[in-house]
Amino acid sequence: MDDKLLCRCFMVTKGDVIRAVENGAASVNDVERQTRLGFSCHACRETARKFIMEKLSERDEKELKKHKSTDK
Ligand code: FES
Repeated sequence: MDDKLLCRCFMVTKGDVIRAVENGAASVNDVERQTRLGFSCHACRETARKFIMEKLSERDEKELKKHKSTDK
C-alpha cells in the first residue's frame, strides 16, 4: 500500500485515501470525512483533492467498464 503522506496533521497516507475509495466513498468530501484529511491547517487540501479525484475517477471508470462488459 502507498504510505506517502498526504496530510501531516492527521497522518493520512495515499493508501488511506485509496482504501476509502475502494470501500465506497462517494465523493471528495466523503473521503475527507472518513480520513479527517484537511480538517486542520488545510495545507494539504489542494494536492490531496487532486489525488482523491483521480482515484474516484479511476474507480468509476473501472465500474463503467465492468458494467459495459456484462451488458453484452
Ligand atoms: S496537512 Fe492536512 S490538515 Fe494540515
